[in-house]
Amino acid sequence: MSQLAAVVLAAGRSRRMKSTLSKVLHPAAGRPLLYYPIVTALELGASDVVVVVNPDNRQQVDETLRALFPGLHLRLATQDPPRGTGDAVGCAIPALVEVGCSHLLILSGDAPLVTPDSLRPLVVELAPASLALGTCRLDNPAGYGRVLRDADGKPARIVEQKDLRGEAEAAIEEVNAGLYCASFPELREALARLTPQNAQGEYYLTDIVPHFAAAGSVRSVAVAPDAMAGVNDRAQLCAVESILYERIAERHRLAGATVAPDARVDESVALEQDVTVCSGVHLRGKTSIGRGAFVDVGCVLTDTVVAEAATLLPYTVATRSQVGEGSRLGPFSHLRAGSQLERDVHLGNFVETKNTVMRRGAKANHLSYLGDGEVGQRSNVGAGTIFCNYDGFSKHHTSIGDDVFVGSDSQFVAPVAVGAGAFVATATCVTHDVPPDALAIGRHRQENKVGYATKLRATLQAAKEAKQRRGSK
Ligand code: UD1
Ligand code: CA
Repeated sequence: MSQLAAVVLAAGRSRRMKSTLSKVLHPAAGRPLLYYPIVTALELGASDVVVVVNPDNRQQVDETLRALFPGLHLRLATQDPPRGTGDAVGCAIPALVEVGCSHLLILSGDAPLVTPDSLRPLVVELAPASLALGTCRLDNPAGYGRVLRDADGKPARIVEQKDLRGEAEAAIEEVNAGLYCASFPELREALARLTPQNAQGEYYLTDIVPHFAAAGSVRSVAVAPDAMAGVNDRAQLCAVESILYERIAERHRLAGATVAPDARVDESVALEQDVTVCSGVHLRGKTSIGRGAFVDVGCVLTDTVVAEAATLLPYTVATRSQVGEGSRLGPFSHLRAGSQLERDVHLGNFVETKNTVMRRGAKANHLSYLGDGEVGQRSNVGAGTIFCNYDGFSKHHTSIGDDVFVGSDSQFVAPVAVGAGAFVATATCVTHDVPPDALAIGRHRQENKVGYATKLRATLQAAKEAKQRRGSK
């Protein structure tokens, strides 16, 4: 029985990125580039995936893949030094022999637009041949390897850009997509014969083609330009990422969510049915949005779980937080890590929460900082309330019970607790605990000095005029 394995090439030096981060780890739509071809290989049924890395990116690739594919054993093979794409596949051979395979799919770590659908014909076409080669016709083939065909129209060899001889070769529009499926035993033979006799002094994988052609067993498979686009520099990274975002949005639209054309929904995000994601919204990481929720213009949510029927008004920002069913946030609410909002919570403009639980039906509608605390059910937090959680050394907790009314401009000097049903008068600085159903009031009594404002104005006016006279002398 045939067994398909895959190798993903990720050991190139990627100098054109001008980056200290390895090219294949640059993110596109919230995942490192390398993630996409690996998922494609797995979806096509590859039993094992070997990723070829170099000594410099090995550790980072290893850590990234463990985090992305927990529980999945992806093998790494190190190519040291990188001496070309043929040499790279050669470096994966021992690992592939170990896992045992009859056929090998070869993908590039820098080509994230490849999909299972675009590659399936490659795997299918292999049956009568030993090498299926993905090719594509481009109006501008510059930069890619050109496919040269023999008198019968079969692929005979591939010429890299730097090895092109004459205008006739340069004008060939059919290019090598860099996607291959090969019979493993024959591939090993072909790789063993590679030499670096070319303009770049490298072991080109493309030079396996004449070997398979001589045995009459190479087939080409047309691949859409979209599927093969590679990332060699940041301009191409940008172009590829736009296509990924559009594909992701389209997938969600067809599954029943409304997604504005310029919203950016990362690959890792989940949207339920009847979710609306408006213009300029960015949904990142492990964010999920529940049924019927509305995410208005400009919201940025990272690793945040929004329950069904919640409404996030414009420019709400949330990180590692939870928003309960039916809650209404924003505009301009800021939920920092550890904000847990239960059902029907209201947070208004310029309210910042951090590591704080808002129980069911709690409200804070204007201009507040609620850090390291808890606000009980149905409690109302007035405008300008501050949880003074930090003493310069440690963070402390503020606890507000159920059905508490907090007047505007109150401060809570943590650690402090307010019992259920209490009433905190406006402008109170709460420094010690408030018993249930008590009124806490801590502010100076107001005094009215009748007629004093008139006198004050006259004094101030006279002082101003005296100053002007001195200045004009
Ligand atoms: C390659 C093909 C070219 C094809 C194009 C399609 C060769 C010689 N050329 O060119 O025919 O049109 O892809 O995109 O194969 N890599 C290693 N080790 C190395 C060199 C490269 O692992 O020593 C990896 C890179 O990380 C990258 C992939 O192989 O993921 C392709 O390498 P790259 O240098 O980008 O090849 P291209 O010049 O694009
Ligand atoms: Ca490339």
